[in-house]
Amino acid sequence: MNKEKIRDKITKLKKEKNAAILAHNYQIGEVQDVADYIGDSLGLSQKAAQVEAKVIVFCGVHFMAETAKILAPEKTILIPDERAGCPMADMITASELREWKKNYPGSKAVCYVNTTAEVKAECDICCTSSNAVKVVNSLNADEILFAPDKNLAAYVARHTKKKIIPWDGYCYVHRYIKDRDIKDKRNLYPEAEVWVHPECLPEVIDLADKVLSTGKMVQEARKTKKKEIIIGTETGIIYRMKKENPTKNFYPARDVAFCFNMKKIGLGKVLTSLENMIHKVEVSLEVSQKARGSIERMIEI
Ligand code: 13P
Ligand code: SF4
Repeated sequence: MNKEKIRDKITKLKKEKNAAILAHNYQIGEVQDVADYIGDSLGLSQKAAQVEAKVIVFCGVHFMAETAKILAPEKTILIPDERAGCPMADMITASELREWKKNYPGSKAVCYVNTTAEVKAECDICCTSSNAVKVVNSLNADEILFAPDKNLAAYVARHTKKKIIPWDGYCYVHRYIKDRDIKDKRNLYPEAEVWVHPECLPEVIDLADKVLSTGKMVQEARKTKKKEIIIGTETGIIYRMKKENPTKNFYPARDVAFCFNMKKIGLGKVLTSLENMIHKVEVSLEVSQKARGSIERMIEI
């Protein structure tokens, strides 16, 4: 079947099944093009709760679809490839978090949205890359356990007086963007500004002009007067930035910064997902209610 036919079938099935397609900023271009909404991890989950559609095809990684299910429990949430996980989210389990907390009485545990529902259920509050500093500063504790991303934890530690105790997790995609890559690209494009994601290594953050979540990068790309920007995050986001801002140039800080899990989803799988109503994302009621508390406490802030 050619791409046009697949797109037509997807459009027809969306109507028939009262479905909406949500895609993360890192998805491949053809998936972004059939999406009703494109966004960052938390924004998409909130969108899942707001849209009228009863079925959500979530084109992203598993923790994001799970967060959508927690915020929209009455809806059917489908992920087109059930193997699309986030290795960083799997770097801490709920029992590891429980054990860790026992060693730090009086502390508060903050978990990045890139965690499983079980981990969210065990922490005091959730955060995203755009509000992590605000969330940490809002807590009435001097010691903060921060999981799982040690690089985001190091970034937060620069902007708070609280003691941040990091878990030893990281994102392999951002870890492979090196300070050398930034220096090389700056030499190549001396007029360009450098924007990086806070999951990047501290020495990369040191070289950046701006440190932004994917959602903030997209907003900033529309606002900036700069014509050239070096982007230190997964390269899928450049498709959207270029499409929305055709007169500006976005260069990847590292050409091969691919999240292979994000790329497991393609147009064919979106169609199969809608046709067969697979793969349904489920979260138990008990875990869902507790995890929702952590997410809602963050949203209040
Ligand atoms: P955002 O919340 O900024 O979309 O980031 C999610 C992610 O997985 C970054 O690697
Ligand atoms: Fe997880 Fe990194 Fe992929 Fe984001 S880019 S989904 S943190 S592996």
